[in-house]
Amino acid sequence: MGLRPVANWSIPATGTLGNDMLVVHASQTGNAERIARLSAAAFPGATVRALATLDAETLRAADRALFVIATYGEGDAPDRARKFEVKTMAAPIDIGALDYAVLALGDREYPGFCAFGHRVDAWLHASGGKRLFDRVDLDGADIDAERHWQQQLSAIAGAAIQPDWQRADYTPWTLVSRKHVNPGSPGGAVYRVVLTPHAPTIWAPGAIAEVLPRHDPARVDRWLARVGRCADSGLRETLLDKILPDDEGDRPAPLQALAHRDYSIASIAASGAVELLVRACPGPDGGLGIGSGWSTKVAPIGGAILLRIRDNPGFAPADPTIPIVLIGNGTGLAGLMAHLRARTAAGGAPAWLLYGERSGAHDRPFAAELETLSNNGPLIRIDRAFSRDAECGRYV
Ligand SMILES: Cc1cc2nc3c(=O)[nH]c(=O)nc-3n(C[C@H](O)[C@H](O)[C@H](O)COP(=O)(O)O)c2cc1C
Repeated sequence: MGLRPVANWSIPATGTLGNDMLVVHASQTGNAERIARLSAAAFPGATVRALATLDAETLRAADRALFVIATYGEGDAPDRARKFEVKTMAAPIDIGALDYAVLALGDREYPGFCAFGHRVDAWLHASGGKRLFDRVDLDGADIDAERHWQQQLSAIAGAAIQPDWQRADYTPWTLVSRKHVNPGSPGGAVYRVVLTPHAPTIWAPGAIAEVLPRHDPARVDRWLARVGRCADSGLRETLLDKILPDDEGDRPAPLQALAHRDYSIASIAASGAVELLVRACPGPDGGLGIGSGWSTKVAPIGGAILLRIRDNPGFAPADPTIPIVLIGNGTGLAGLMAHLRARTAAGGAPAWLLYGERSGAHDRPFAAELETLSNNGPLIRIDRAFSRDAECGRYV
């Protein structure tokens, strides 16, 4: 299956050969890998590797290396890089005369902002590596930090032109339906949200939907009332997709757009629709959170939601002829459903699903379809663990 490109980066017209350049990524949901590949394009001949596949010899053999490192969990390494951190990064090692740079990806809303990228940088330095330039921390889609990284790469690539990084625009998708799938659950409400594109779009299982939220207008109205500008309809419209300033001082800072929210896509492209599982999360003001509130309550059915799709090569489909074990919990079932559905469509080898949630009586999204797939499809076994059930009380 081909993928519609969701990003491209114009490669510098000139540049030093990059066959001495190693470009390393540690990625959970594809951002770091995408940026690593874009970065490598500035160094023809560069080698791109996942951090998890590196060893001391490879690092010693390289003259220069770029590390694009995401942080996951609570300041943790992405899943596939955990073993590398525990085993290889336990102490400084001899990496020879490696010149390196680190781009750390993260989100300032987490206490351990870019924590794993910081640890990789510190470990490389302690291991004798020399920084080509200071570490760059990239918060979400911070354009300035992206540009700074690109400029630094241009400088070391000897590029005559500055690379221009472009991402595909968000496009409007129609919100077809949303259904509360776990009424009575001790956990937060989960909604099955279905959207259709305005133009044919394809994606591979594992892909992520980036949904651009808008505020509940009532929240914006409360903010306008607080600053005494209830009648300003232009400002109201402007603020619907912006971060609401804490205070409106004499010289307010430029308004920042709301950041997109990532959701694993549960459907396959052949279905013609993107299907998501979205858990409604409480926001700091006691109402629904901005992101989950938008798709589970505020956006009108039949209305448009701005969305773009990001490929996630680290969660790409396995060879369909090889049996597969799928393990996940909560709304993480969405990403597993895409793999299961693709395998079903391809008539692939058997699958075994291990799934964890809170309540066996209430938390069973996709139950009917899973039943069908276990009777007539590739799903040969399902094991469920429900942490809040007295007779079960287990976790996946
Ligand atoms: C479940 C989850 C946990 C995260 N934890 C952190 C964190 O502890 N610190 C941080 O700076 N960013 C955190 N992030 C943000 C990611 O680092 C950020 O979205 C990054 O772009 C992901 O890159 P990737 O797609 O290559 O995995 C987290 C994101 C998710 C979805």
